[in-house]
Amino acid sequence: MFTQLSFVCVRVRVSELELSYRTLARERERGNRNMFAHLSNHQQHQQINWQPTKALRKERRTKITINSKKMKRVSNDKYMTTKCQTQNQAQFTPRGAKITGIGKAVPKKFITNDDLAKLVDTNDEWIRARTGIGKRHVISGEETLTSLAAEASLGALKMANIRAEDIDLIIVATSSPDDLFGSACLLQGAIGAKGALAYDLTAACSGFVVGLVNGMHYIRGGGFKNVLVVGADVLSRYVDWRDRGTCILFGDGCGAIVLTATDDVKDCSLLGFDMHSDGTQNHHLTAKVCGAKTGKVWESDAEAGERTAFENISMNGQDVFKFAVRAVPMTINASLKNANMTTDEIDHLVLHQANQRIIDAAAQRLSLGEDKVVSNIAEYGNTSAASVPLALCEAVESGKVKKGDVVAMAGFGAGLTWASCLIKW
Ligand code: ACO
Repeated sequence: MFTQLSFVCVRVRVSELELSYRTLARERERGNRNMFAHLSNHQQHQQINWQPTKALRKERRTKITINSKKMKRVSNDKYMTTKCQTQNQAQFTPRGAKITGIGKAVPKKFITNDDLAKLVDTNDEWIRARTGIGKRHVISGEETLTSLAAEASLGALKMANIRAEDIDLIIVATSSPDDLFGSACLLQGAIGAKGALAYDLTAACSGFVVGLVNGMHYIRGGGFKNVLVVGADVLSRYVDWRDRGTCILFGDGCGAIVLTATDDVKDCSLLGFDMHSDGTQNHHLTAKVCGAKTGKVWESDAEAGERTAFENISMNGQDVFKFAVRAVPMTINASLKNANMTTDEIDHLVLHQANQRIIDAAAQRLSLGEDKVVSNIAEYGNTSAASVPLALCEAVESGKVKKGDVVAMAGFGAGLTWASCLIKW
């Protein structure tokens, strides 16, 4: 009697289990198709064909086997095991990755050195001689980080000849988002990239290079077809316009690049890379949070209106200068080693545009002639995460960088962070 009862119990449990699997499968195949419509085909396939994990199957089998021996028999039944015998790992199909498009955007308004000389004790001659900067663009009116990013991205998509809906992933490298929770989703909404996952990446002036290497890995690992990598900053929001040590340096801008998967796994625009950070040196370049009332409930109405904000940019110019002159040649040499290449094979050097003297010193240490150096610092100043893609975009548009050329790129700055990569255009 007991055995019969327990057998019935087993049947009920097994059919419950069976039912729940079937229901899940049905739901995923029908109703949830809409839910996953924003995902790429590969991601949809993964979601729709979800099966219980090995651990879940084991847990359910264990629950069943403790009731009776018959239960054990049923749980090991061929039907059960084949039903659960599915892949329980993410699928990776390695692919090649190419750079297919590039775009840029800069604000309309610009501030010249002479304009700054009216604000602080400085002059055009000093700024040009010590930094190479002639003017810097700053956002005004309706312009935002997102509007610049959208303009640059649409330019890159046009060159890549793809639609915004074709993008799987958007990485926005920035330290100055329009929203504390990130600007990538704002960009996604602005350009209508419905099918993409979008997120921000913060690595200051190294952000674009780090983002590019990240994007390449997403495609190379499989599962992503078109990745949009954006370097954008509007640090004019955080500049203290009374501080002549920093206000002369920074400008706003954006550059964007499209990476596209290819079927040939050996076909990759990224030849080598090298990336680092050193948090112990963070104090050299900061824009710290201020006015934070962490965990504190306000005590008066006046306090209720107080907002958390960030301090102005603070920098030990000389220390950052020395760090950059040392770190840039080191990281480019490491990228060359990673690619099994030599400096002779570099056609163009595109460095973070922080100071012309840093660019010149790095080029000299790498024994690269002036003709190989890309520089637009005179026009835009230091645009942080935007400076590398902005300079590369202009070099491509002017015809300086041609198809097949090898470009060495490096970013460095707050964090401290430094990163480089070698690409074949
Ligand atoms: N105009 C005139 N004089 C100035 C100015 C100015 N704008 N700024 C400083 N000076 C004066 C100083 O007061 C000093 O005068 P003193 O000798 O009487 O004391 C003198 O010029 C020299 O000052 P330094 O700070 O030694 O000038 P330096 O040659 O180092 O240049 C600079 C300063 C341009 C900031 C340089 O140090 C630099 O470029 N540093 C690196 C910045 C960088 O690479 N940042 C990258 C990262 S950005 C990011 O990650 C967000």
